[in-house]
Amino acid sequence: MRFGDHFMEELKARVRVSDVVGKSVKLKRQGREYAGLSPFTNEKTPSFFVNDEKGFYHCFSSGKHGDAISFLMEIENLSFPEAVERLAGIAGMDLPKADPQAEARAKQNKIAINWMEEAQAFFAKSLMREVGREAREYLKSRGLTQTAAERFGIGFAPDSFDALRDELLQKGADIKVLVEAGLLIEPEDRTRQPWDRFRNRIMFPIRDPRGRLVAFGGRAMEKDAKAKYLNSPETALFHKGRVLYRYPEARKSLVAPNNPARGLIVAEGYMDVIALARAGFEQAVAPLGTALTEDQLDLLWRAGPEPILCFDGDKAGIRAAFRSIERALPKLKPGQTLRFALLPEGQDPDDLIQAKGPSAMKEVLDSAIPLVDMLWTREIEAGPLNTPEDKAGLKDRIYAALREISHDGVREQYKTELLARFDSEFGWKANRQQGRGGNNWVSKKASPQMKQNMRDGAMSESRERRLIGAILEWPLLLESLDETFFSLRFASDSCRQLQSAIQSYFSTTKAVDKRSLHAHIEHIGLDSHLKKFSADRFLCVAAMGGNDATLNQREAIFQQEAAAHMGQGQDERVESETRSRLVDSIYENNTDALRRLMRASRNDR
Ligand code: UTP
Ligand code: MN
Repeated sequence: MRFGDHFMEELKARVRVSDVVGKSVKLKRQGREYAGLSPFTNEKTPSFFVNDEKGFYHCFSSGKHGDAISFLMEIENLSFPEAVERLAGIAGMDLPKADPQAEARAKQNKIAINWMEEAQAFFAKSLMREVGREAREYLKSRGLTQTAAERFGIGFAPDSFDALRDELLQKGADIKVLVEAGLLIEPEDRTRQPWDRFRNRIMFPIRDPRGRLVAFGGRAMEKDAKAKYLNSPETALFHKGRVLYRYPEARKSLVAPNNPARGLIVAEGYMDVIALARAGFEQAVAPLGTALTEDQLDLLWRAGPEPILCFDGDKAGIRAAFRSIERALPKLKPGQTLRFALLPEGQDPDDLIQAKGPSAMKEVLDSAIPLVDMLWTREIEAGPLNTPEDKAGLKDRIYAALREISHDGVREQYKTELLARFDSEFGWKANRQQGRGGNNWVSKKASPQMKQNMRDGAMSESRERRLIGAILEWPLLLESLDETFFSLRFASDSCRQLQSAIQSYFSTTKAVDKRSLHAHIEHIGLDSHLKKFSADRFLCVAAMGGNDATLNQREAIFQQEAAAHMGQGQDERVESETRSRLVDSIYENNTDALRRLMRASRNDR
């Protein structure tokens, strides 16, 4: 949108920078200026100044400098037009309108939003009144205090067909507007007065990306309700595919100086988003009961480059994750990707946080896997891989996926990566048997011996990482496997360093506590190694028999791995088959999907 010069001048003249800044920074008058603590860094002494006469702020600790609009862009993570719109709101100015029709529509929208806000106030009030007692108890049973309800604007729609209607009519609403806003239902024959759409439900306010209250989600309290959640219908203001629950707040939280997250977290439900926000993950959002749309993906990327999508680790969850790959591929570009966090089977973030606390959620998020891994998993999952035809089919699928990627550079990288995986998995065996040169992974000129060495090297490196990863994940293994583990010789520097860090920790403390072990490793400056491991954590856990394996089973797998590592190259095939059988037996009762994911990790690059 273009705003005229005249409008922009008027806008800047009407609002003082200190008023805008003062909403988020505590300012103190200092001569002609105001001073405060920088909102961009974590400073202790004020080095942030605002000068209303000159119309700018200057931050000495971050070097940032600008006017009211750039301040809003920075602090609220807004685009230029969004910031102008916000500032116009503060100044009480209408945005310049393109045409009279648009102007009329904007006016109607404003009226509708006003009544949405009134409805919200009514729901909030009802929750606190006698009618809301059961609702309060329900919220309490789900761990939501009154303060939390207030913070998230949660309300209650009484069990009545006319409570909201009468309240708003009495306040001067036009009944037609309330119907159009989706608050009331009008019978088709119009013989009766419209009635309240939301009855006996916990109400969640839903704001559009501009922060306007455009819809509600209502949750039934009784277990056997016809619809667990009832959302507002599509209206002039509300298009559910273009909205994400709590997007404005989540997007804003990403720019806070101490938030290290690289993107939003996408959960499935309202209660998940609320649980995440309360656990410190303010950057959580959710679509409104549907799979992510393209518009919603764009919203995610507008907020940060690497959003994390959370899915249940069950079959349906993994299938849903695969579907979002479909949507994402055409839109990938540098600085625009996705990661996937798979939750323990049958749990959503709300359940996990209730059961195991924020740290368990953090672990799940930290081990989110990159899009390329999820894509690889999807392709190897899609069919059998036994015959040459099967393998050719896999290659076709890989090429089909690559064709979906529009960005040339990204497509090129995916091609290199996926074909390398294909070759390290299927190409080599064939090459070894047929004694022919491979085509991608290693240059054609490499001798068969060179290729063999490279393959052994790659395999042993991933095994090293699994061995270390297992100890990092379950230090308890050291109680019985300490001698085995400390006698292993690792080829990679990072594995060697971690091994000796684990040894120094274990020999002095004799403790097997994960948190203190990790703290020790960070303390001696190996935190970057640790981070790399936590990125692969999901795959390592899967290869060790998953979350549900017993200690005995993990010990057995570890022994197998350690033995294979020591006898490198001697009779690798036999060993890896024994190991596969062992792992498979653990997974017998689990889903195929998980088993395949695990297999993917076993064959990792
Ligand atoms: P879920 O059924 O996974 O429920 O719906 P939940 O989020 O765990 O909710 P609680 O914990 O039982 O309260 C996920 C999302 O799907 C939409 C809602 O947006 C919900 O938050 N949904 C679900 C509907 O729109 N309608 C329904 O009947 C159910
Ligand atoms: Mn839930």
